[in-house]
Amino acid sequence: MVGIPAALDHSSGALNYDQVFVRDFFPSALAFLMTEKPEIVKKILLRTFRLQASEKRVDCFTLGQCVMPASFKVLHNPVTGSEKLSTDFGGSAIGRVVPIDFSFWWIILLRAYTKAIGNCDLSQREDCQRGMKLILSLCLSEGFDTFPTLLCANGCCMIDRRMGTYGYPIEIQALFFMALKCARDLLKADGDWKIYIALIEKRLPALTYHMRSHFWLNHEQLNDIYRFKTEEYLYTVVNKFNVIPESIPDWLFDFMPRKGGYFIGNVSPGRMDFRWFAAGNCISILSSLTTRERSLAIMDLIEEKWQDLVGEMPMKAVFPALESHEWRIVTGCDPKNNPWSYHNGGSWPVLLWLLTAASVKTGRPRMVKIALELAERRMGKDEWPEYYDGRDGCYIGKQSRKMQTWSMSGYVVARMIAEDPSLLGLISLDEGKDMNPTLSRATSLPSRLFPDPPRYTPADNPTSLTSICASMVRKRFRPFLALFRMRKHFRCLTRVNLLGIRLFFTTIKCTSTGYSLSFSPRF
Ligand code: GLC
Repeated sequence: MVGIPAALDHSSGALNYDQVFVRDFFPSALAFLMTEKPEIVKKILLRTFRLQASEKRVDCFTLGQCVMPASFKVLHNPVTGSEKLSTDFGGSAIGRVVPIDFSFWWIILLRAYTKAIGNCDLSQREDCQRGMKLILSLCLSEGFDTFPTLLCANGCCMIDRRMGTYGYPIEIQALFFMALKCARDLLKADGDWKIYIALIEKRLPALTYHMRSHFWLNHEQLNDIYRFKTEEYLYTVVNKFNVIPESIPDWLFDFMPRKGGYFIGNVSPGRMDFRWFAAGNCISILSSLTTRERSLAIMDLIEEKWQDLVGEMPMKAVFPALESHEWRIVTGCDPKNNPWSYHNGGSWPVLLWLLTAASVKTGRPRMVKIALELAERRMGKDEWPEYYDGRDGCYIGKQSRKMQTWSMSGYVVARMIAEDPSLLGLISLDEGKDMNPTLSRATSLPSRLFPDPPRYTPADNPTSLTSICASMVRKRFRPFLALFRMRKHFRCLTRVNLLGIRLFFTTIKCTSTGYSLSFSPRF
């Protein structure tokens, strides 16, 4: 047993769907762990790692030693009766791109396996430690970067074709963050590995700060960006990336609800990709890249925009679709990515497990129930398609394979997490010490878009002016801070459950004039 092919649809050409993808294997691996079959997962983890050592060439170019395989296939030799694995590192994939996400899924899976079996025997093995070290040495190496995020080529993640995801796509950044946190827990804290733990400790706060400051969008942020001044210079500017407000697409003003927010798709100099990417946002919730408050805001957005983001089939990988001229320029006229199809606004049943896990983590049982009902109504009858087309996700995708493995395993995992939320522990991480102080700045401050860095340590210099000011502010706000720390208990006390619908929740809001309690309706 060496793996699970992407699809078993004999009615259409296999292309590379008869290969075993690490990415596609992840939900199956979770299903195996949840049903107490960890041996299969262990075999795949070790097998993919061993393949890392194979020769990697794309034409005349040799790839980095640390790159993980994109997929592999079993080749049978009918003459000798032997079998061998043929490995692809992106060299035979469309667009010839190395998928970056595979390495991160591998680390995340290693942590899930460790958690499931309750001991570190596998992760502490020298070869697994080496595997993590190789991946980390690749993504934590020093380069020309100005940002703590990872610079990527188009098509390096689940969306593996040209779709304007080059730069700093949210899916990769969220997976990078999650893999760093998992690796920190799994790496031995002695010998050679110590240096990697130190590098992770240094990178995580910077990455958290960058993502939370520059990728987050809600109604207020949108208004700020809409009023951005441009061509600013030096360190105190608000519009750090010189984003021109006219580049805000029209659809966003209609789409953005008053309640809720999300991590936008990509941020780089002069560019904000405002599209919604489901995987990146759900992984941000699971990894706690978002604060608790913002995780709830993402779920609020999904709820408010249910018809757009979920429709008839949970759920769209990207919203909205690129159309006409934009489609031509961004996708390079890709007919598989026609508007509201495949990656371009198509609905992917595999995302059901991510939606379910994020909903369970944020306490939205009704959302889970409705999403599962939608999927159950159609997926089996339609023979587990890879994706659905159309604005509402009503049609089986034009080139969609049937009997797609991760559509099935995604559903199985979603169902199991819904029935036993304790299973969420396999893929959910706490905020822990990387948590940003959840206090947001007063709305009247112009620099609200760029809050303080996550680790504020005035104690480093107790006599500095900053330290004195900080201590005065702390004294002045002590009662409010106490209230803030008790916010979880407030929430519990004020939750009213009526016919399974939670009616109210309390938030303690920071405003320019102080703090206030507010009540809002909730799913
Ligand atoms: C498609 C998807 C990719 C997946 C592959 C195999 O190319 O975009 O994410 O891994 O199919 O299912």
